[in-house]
Amino acid sequence: MFIINHNLEDLSKFLTDPILLYNIMFILLLMSLLLCFVMTKKPSCKVYLIDFACYKPPDSQKCSKELSANLAAGYGYFTDEQIDFMRKTMERAGLGDSTYLAEVFFGKTYNPFMKDARREVEMAIFGSVDTLLAKTGVRYEDIGILIVNCCIYNSEPSLSSIVVNQYKLRENIVTYNLVGMGCSAGLVAIGLAKQLLQVHQNSYAMIVSTESITENCYKGKDRSKFLINCMFRVGGAAILLSNHPSDHKISKYQLLHAIHTNTSSSDRSYNCIYREEDNAGFVGVNVNKDLLISAITTIRPNLITVGRLILPIKEKFIYLINHIVRNLIPTLKIKQYTPNYSKVVDHFLPHVGGKPVLDELQKALGFSDEAMEASRMTLYRYGNTSSTSIWYELAYIEAKGRVKKGNWVWQIAFGSGFKGSSIIWCAMKTVNHDEHNPWTDEIAKFPVTLTIREPFTVHFDPSN
Ligand SMILES: *[C@@H]1O[C@H](CO)[C@@H](O)[C@H](O)[C@H]1NC(C)=O
Ligand SMILES: *[C@@H]1O[C@H](CO)[C@@H](O)[C@H](O)[C@H]1NC(C)=O
Ligand SMILES: *[C@@H]1O[C@H](CO)[C@@H](O)[C@H](O)[C@H]1NC(C)=O
Repeated sequence: MFIINHNLEDLSKFLTDPILLYNIMFILLLMSLLLCFVMTKKPSCKVYLIDFACYKPPDSQKCSKELSANLAAGYGYFTDEQIDFMRKTMERAGLGDSTYLAEVFFGKTYNPFMKDARREVEMAIFGSVDTLLAKTGVRYEDIGILIVNCCIYNSEPSLSSIVVNQYKLRENIVTYNLVGMGCSAGLVAIGLAKQLLQVHQNSYAMIVSTESITENCYKGKDRSKFLINCMFRVGGAAILLSNHPSDHKISKYQLLHAIHTNTSSSDRSYNCIYREEDNAGFVGVNVNKDLLISAITTIRPNLITVGRLILPIKEKFIYLINHIVRNLIPTLKIKQYTPNYSKVVDHFLPHVGGKPVLDELQKALGFSDEAMEASRMTLYRYGNTSSTSIWYELAYIEAKGRVKKGNWVWQIAFGSGFKGSSIIWCAMKTVNHDEHNPWTDEIAKFPVTLTIREPFTVHFDPSN
């Protein structure tokens, strides 16, 4: 009895000891904090690119430079001088003789209806989505996010509804339809998908990029609107992203960075690519002389951000020292140091955009001619397919067998707005030959040597 009493007394003393109480409370607090941390810690948000597919239009839509100039001449809207300008532009930009035009251009006259434009985008969208579904085997009901981008053609119901309807995708699918966002919209869509995948766990996101040229042929006499008639061609791509952790085993790439910049608040940038009617009432996309400067001012901050994220410390350090010395002692006239991006990036895939922009980029980043090959060959084979060109470029390096496990791939696109986007991928595996690749049958013929011609100056008219 005594012992028990004694023990109880001890125990109560023990429990009322303030120091011990504090200790216990402290431990409890720590444990609850730890619990909170574990419970609120975000699950890993890695985004994988399982696979992608590019649309290859039927051979009946192949069109040589000669044929497209002859077709255009036949419509009766254009002067001989315009047709001559068209021939020269296609030649000098490096377009080949097997790019694809929309069906509507093969008629004797050019009078497109909305149904023609719809048919063109549906062919490109269904063509690429069918291939993607066949390649990946993903089940329709597993796709939780869908983003479609197409700049010029806009329909009601939207293009994303067309896709949901065609494939009977699930009812609670999250869909977005990006219109009017220019050539960089395809990468804007990837950036949006990345953000959505960070809040929707265990989802698949499908991105479909295309452009419509059917209704987009400018019929007037304005040179700076006529330029677009020369280069635009049919294209489409579909991409499947996933954040299922187990998909790292089957995916081709992992998304590392998505960087978007824009200078739409500057009037000069905003107006440099502008869709409007000319004085005679014909609709066209006006491209003015500020294009190059707007492109440079938009792309520069993009490149700097990419550099900050990916360059090795040594490159950043040399850049910094060079920058300081140049600013402190300008009389020394030291050349600006260009960090070597190819130390980290194995494949550089810029949008086919104008030759001057590509040349500037190549110079600014110090990439070799081989690094620019995918972009130039895509322009040669498929023409300017707007937001989808970067996917034909990725398909090109895959078909060439150049993508090795661990390689970094940089896609960069820019367009009206003015907007620029960079996406950096890391290859999860060495990509093997694949029958669905649009280049597969003919890759051995590439690269072709492009005859370098004197650039000629385009006379730009101011927009109205
Ligand atoms: C515009 O630029 C800002 C950064 O400068 C970026 O955060 C934003 O996502 C960009 N928007 C688009 C549509 O590119
Ligand atoms: C940049 O780095 C790559 C890879 O390390 C190298 O092959 C190339 O010669 C370098 N370029 C320049 C201009 O130093
Ligand atoms: C490709 O088309 C876009 C319009 O979307 C235009 O800004 C760009 O200059 C074109 N590139 C070439 C090479 O014509």
